[in-house]
Amino acid sequence: MAQILDGLKVSKEIKEEIKNDVQKILASGKRAPHLVAILVGNNGASETYVRSKINDCAEVGFKSSLVRFPSTASEAELLEKIQELNMDPEVDGFIVQLPLPKQMDQEKVIMAINSHKDVDGFHPENFGRMALEMSTFLPATPFGILTLLERYNIETKGKNCVIIGRSKIVGRPMSILMGRKDFPGNATVTVTHSYTPHIEDFTRNADIVITALGDPLFLKADMIKEGAVVVDVGISRVEDDSKKGYHLEGDVDFESCAPKASWITPVPGGVGPMTRAMLLKNTILAYKHTIY
Ligand code: GUN
Repeated sequence: MAQILDGLKVSKEIKEEIKNDVQKILASGKRAPHLVAILVGNNGASETYVRSKINDCAEVGFKSSLVRFPSTASEAELLEKIQELNMDPEVDGFIVQLPLPKQMDQEKVIMAINSHKDVDGFHPENFGRMALEMSTFLPATPFGILTLLERYNIETKGKNCVIIGRSKIVGRPMSILMGRKDFPGNATVTVTHSYTPHIEDFTRNADIVITALGDPLFLKADMIKEGAVVVDVGISRVEDDSKKGYHLEGDVDFESCAPKASWITPVPGGVGPMTRAMLLKNTILAYKHTIY
């Protein structure tokens, strides 16, 4: 039976470390780190994510601000706000919650963010730095997975790692990080995606499987090998008859895979809380100017 990669527990440890750090900062008479979140429109999932990020800031003693725009706002208005935050010496980092409404060019918006304040790690300069193994802000989800593997001492060196999904914010950066020459890294990485026929031909040979495709219960026991490490990034809303009207499900069929795997992340309580903790980590790194 697999052991649990307990993202909730590790995320609490990380938040505790950050909180202690903030207390030292405040005791020395300096201001608290400050994260700003920009939310355009009122997409339900984005509202939830941003609210969580703001709550996380309060928990560790950061200052946080939420800047809201209506879904009808123009790209120019958003870019103007970004310029303002870029220049504000009392803003350490900020994020523009994605997705953006159709009238906005996501690439242009991300490019406008000062890379030194890009705590999401989405700016091409930071993505390039990541690929080149330079210090940078790592995107929160891949950073969270690396930290989880690191804290549980999961060996990645020389292992076969199969990633399902090639998104810009999870699959692709994850594939780069797992193949880098640092720890955890040095894996042989295969990226599979929607055009990969017979994904199971790859996952069955994987020592580590990372699923980030957003297809509930996609990965079944017969697709993994005995003793595999299984990391589930998926978190899909599945409609049901409950009061909420939905529940959350990962990409991994936990019930069938857990008896066969050596380590596995639960959903919820696996990768999700780690992602949230790493945004805080990036913000304190931005505050201390430890990246650039
Ligand atoms: N939308 C989904 N995930 C993320 C994230 O990590 N950051 C931002 N800014 N938007 C997102």
